[in-house]
Amino acid sequence: MTEETNIVHIERPVPTESDMDTLVSVPTDARERMREAMRQAGLSQAAAAREISISPSALNQWLQGKYAGSNEEIEGKVENWLSARGRKDDVAGALPAIPTFFRSPSSLKIIDTLAYGQMAGDIVCIYGGPGVGKTVSLRQYRDTNPSVWIATMAPDSAPVVPALEEVAEAVGIRDAAGGARKIARAIRRRVEGTRGLLIIDEAQHLSVAALEQMRSIHDATGIGLALVGNEAVYARLTGGTRASHFAQLFSRIGSRLFISRPTIGDVRALAAAWNVKGKAELDLLQQIASKPGALRGVSKVLAYAAMSGGGAEITVSALRHAWSNLGAQE
Ligand SMILES: Nc1ncnc2c1ncn2[C@@H]1O[C@H](COP(=O)(O)OP(=O)(O)OP(=O)(O)O)[C@@H](O)[C@H]1O
Ligand SMILES: [Mg+2]
Repeated sequence: MTEETNIVHIERPVPTESDMDTLVSVPTDARERMREAMRQAGLSQAAAAREISISPSALNQWLQGKYAGSNEEIEGKVENWLSARGRKDDVAGALPAIPTFFRSPSSLKIIDTLAYGQMAGDIVCIYGGPGVGKTVSLRQYRDTNPSVWIATMAPDSAPVVPALEEVAEAVGIRDAAGGARKIARAIRRRVEGTRGLLIIDEAQHLSVAALEQMRSIHDATGIGLALVGNEAVYARLTGGTRASHFAQLFSRIGSRLFISRPTIGDVRALAAAWNVKGKAELDLLQQIASKPGALRGVSKVLAYAAMSGGGAEITVSALRHAWSNLGAQE
């Protein structure tokens, strides 16, 4: 046993006030490894504490050797976190570097539609099946163009105020408060004159009143507006049988793009990103892409197969194995 590990053991019992001075001057191995891991991951103490599930002040005090509570408990949690991180690194090391975005035919269509909306300051609607690559394409467009904001809606953002709060946060207004009129005014001030594009993802969750509110931001500021989501988005815009009530919104849609399912080209592009090109492999991936979840399922199966193959070439049997292990039904 080295001297250093002995020191760790001395430190384990809960320290009393009078022990404090000794503790401060004794760095432990776990502390150093923790500091190094945070440095490597570029994690702040607060972010690391959140991952470890301890309070930031406990981590800070423990790192300084000043923690007055159970050091053993903190160390146990830190060790768990460190070893889970090590396992993740091992897996990541075995995987090929996968781009977070690749130019699939469907995503290029989505990006073109967004570009039109921004350039023309128009309203566009992009809708379709789950897992066809809508959200990843929106993010790619935002990350490569100025003044593009994505607000993602959820079932609880249907009413006007929560919907506006999401938009306020997306455009960088912190802690928007004060009711719909006030938040809408702050948003208008923020986006006016930017020639920007406001993207609402999962727009099917919005009530008609909230959709009208988005339209009014577009009307007042001239920025582009993209309403993106599942098939229900478009149905909501047309208003079904009560179409006349929705004419104001519907008549403003300059371009709409419907992508029901991924194309063969999309599957090929995704497979190529993992260096998979064989016919048997592509046929199987195509079959997976035709199931609900589409490219999401394909991505998961590819990642699983690559992970369990430890970086070896991905074969059709590895894909089958991955697919069945992920609980898919053929
Ligand atoms: N162009 C792409 N580049 C990288 N990954 C992609 C691309 N297209 C699809 N994917 C993969 O497919 C998965 C699903 O894509 P995404 O989340 O964008 O689907 P979506 O159309 O927004 O689905 P939903 O309607 O369920 O929100 C992504 O997590 C990613 O793994
Ligand atoms: Mg999505």
